[in-house]
Amino acid sequence: MSARYQLSGTTAVEISAGIESGIRTGALSPGAALPPVRALAADLGVSPATVARAYQELRQRGLLVTAGRHGTRVRPRPPVAARRSALRPPPLPGARDLSRGEPDRRLLPPLGPHLAALAADTGPSVSYSDAGVLPELAEAARARLDADGVPAGELTITGGALDGIERLLGAHLRPGDAVAVEDPGWANLLDLVAALGLRPIGVPVDDEGPMVAGVAAALAAGARALVVTSRAQNPTGSAVSAQRAEALRALLAGRRDLLLIEDDHAAELARVPLHSLAGATASWAFLRSVSKPFGPDLRLAVLVGDETTVARVAGRTRVGAGWVSTVLQRLVLALWSDPAVDELVRRAAQSYEQRRDGLLTALAEHGLRAHGRSGINVWLPVPDETSAVTALRDAGWAVAPGALYRIAAAPAVRVTVSSLHADDLAPLAAALAHAANPTPPPGFPT
Ligand SMILES: Cc1ncc(COP(=O)(O)O)c(C=O)c1O
Repeated sequence: MSARYQLSGTTAVEISAGIESGIRTGALSPGAALPPVRALAADLGVSPATVARAYQELRQRGLLVTAGRHGTRVRPRPPVAARRSALRPPPLPGARDLSRGEPDRRLLPPLGPHLAALAADTGPSVSYSDAGVLPELAEAARARLDADGVPAGELTITGGALDGIERLLGAHLRPGDAVAVEDPGWANLLDLVAALGLRPIGVPVDDEGPMVAGVAAALAAGARALVVTSRAQNPTGSAVSAQRAEALRALLAGRRDLLLIEDDHAAELARVPLHSLAGATASWAFLRSVSKPFGPDLRLAVLVGDETTVARVAGRTRVGAGWVSTVLQRLVLALWSDPAVDELVRRAAQSYEQRRDGLLTALAEHGLRAHGRSGINVWLPVPDETSAVTALRDAGWAVAPGALYRIAAAPAVRVTVSSLHADDLAPLAAALAHAANPTPPPGFPT
């Protein structure tokens, strides 16, 4: 713990507020050790139970972690400090930024014409009593999901995939429960799991999705929920194959105690078929976001699932935020209904695939095997992330260090390909090859 940071307070609320503020301001850095309960209680002149309550509250909110003899520490990425993605080193001026994991803005459908059409055609505004999921949107969503073999009986709308995942985990789990997540996996999900006071259990991933033995081990370790990215897994690009889906379905069949969440965030952008696990367990939900094909600012995802799961999410939304704006729902419906937008999304998907495959091929020419079966990222294993990220930065490329996405997976860097041009591929692959196989200093044996 920072010698300068003085813990204070005489009640559990004051003590936990002091610690939280220390974490927020950076005075208590990630990993910093807190004093043992009895020592702090003696220092502050309060009972050990008061300090224990303060620590317990912060543990439940994902700010602290207690690890046996190692005592209580600030979590590596506490949810009141910067998000994992904010821990990416800022690119140097003039560097090409391939660290962000975002779609290329130039390939998103323009919203202007559809917004103008909506403005011209808007009837009386929707009010509290008649708001909810637009029936026309639900019908269009069901048709799209049916076409992909996802049973879309019960349906609701959330403010994006991550909002849906948060609502699902909040409705089914309690702080301290374990959640099986892909490792490596999406940094924002790891942040969310910590913020909800849940325990992540990493499940190794290969190009065909979460590995069956890893899921089995997570179930044996007591996971109450499993989050699977259907396609364009972030960061590895993995996509659940037909064979993997069958094996996972067999493993999960009949589980009554597990909430299965599928995140199909790439949706229409994925150029590989969907092999959904929907319905494998009694409690399940499938989320399809509009962020990647149509734009992250739309903040909308369709959620389908079993009756109880969907009712819990919809019911909780009703008593809180209420509903996802009908204006947004109408905009998404207009985008889905426009063949010109379909064509733009199809071209974007094709262009991401060309960039990804181009980079994988260029890396293979340097003898490097990277991953990127689908989506907008390539995941390249490296022996040392810090030196790889630094070498690439010196060569003018910003990439994301794999540590943001890993629990126990091996080191790597994530390269977002969405903005690459054909002439970037050779110099980028050469820089990545150099970063992945650094030349040893002279005099050292090779
Ligand atoms: C795995 C994954 N899921 C979902 C999303 C997007 O979610 P949302 O619908 O909340 O924008 C992303 C965005 O990067 C992602 O990587």
